[in-house]
Amino acid sequence: MIRVVHLFKTLQEQLILDDINLEVPQGELLVILGESGAGKSVLLKHLIGLFKPDSGEVEINSQDITKLSEAELLKVRKKMGYLFQEGALYDFMNVFENLAFPLEEHTTFDDQTIAEKVQEALKTVDLAGVEGKYPSELSGGMRKRVALARALIMDAKILLCDEPTSGLDPIRSRDISDLIRSVSKRYNCTTVITSHDIDNSFRIADRLALLRSGQIIAIGTPAELKSSDNSFIREFFQS
Ligand SMILES: Nc1ncnc2c1ncn2[C@@H]1O[C@H](COP(=O)(O)OP(=O)(O)OP(=O)(O)O)[C@@H](O)[C@H]1O
Ligand SMILES: [Mg+2]
Repeated sequence: MIRVVHLFKTLQEQLILDDINLEVPQGELLVILGESGAGKSVLLKHLIGLFKPDSGEVEINSQDITKLSEAELLKVRKKMGYLFQEGALYDFMNVFENLAFPLEEHTTFDDQTIAEKVQEALKTVDLAGVEGKYPSELSGGMRKRVALARALIMDAKILLCDEPTSGLDPIRSRDISDLIRSVSKRYNCTTVITSHDIDNSFRIADRLALLRSGQIIAIGTPAELKSSDNSFIREFFQS
């Protein structure tokens, strides 16, 4: 479970997150929507401890991670999968090496177990057979899939995805959105996605939150948000 309590964050004298309160139960898929610059990525980075709030709490499975040292935080992060906005694969490693790397760094698995886990993760994202390719030899959609496989390979129970459809065409966007939903449900992950992509978000989300000027101005199921009578919310979802 993820819980954010009265979180405030100022960056360069600008209030970016303004009293965020949020609870994501185990197994839920929440999408955070909002205009560019609304603070979606900054909020997501607080959930993995890349940013520390000025005040407020971020609880991951009942542990307030804002109070942890870097070493303790690393342990918590190992249990989380994070899909960066840019994908963030290592360009100098092939797909196999990109996926094996976290296992080599953080586990004591032998080479054969690691190889099996890499194959299994690639199969999960429908990418068997690309082990030897380098990121530059993959399409944008394939890179996102590899990044998703890498996020999952440590058996993460918490999955955070920052704009997983950015830079993809409508078909690839739909595919990666559906894939995130299906792996998230298969492994019972608590999943938080940020997105601009309203159609795909409505299709895959259990709940959606709308962030505006650092505040969550609406949160609910797709049906609840669609029937909102708030004019900004209506406009946002119709654009
Ligand atoms: N490291 C940083 N230092 C200073 N300001 C930052 C930093 N990261 C983000 N910001 C500022 O915080 C605000 C919110 O940025 P954020 O990246 O969270 O937006 P976003 O909602 O993710 O936008 P997009 O949809 O374009 O990804 C912006 O005004 C941005 O300039
Ligand atoms: Mg962003």
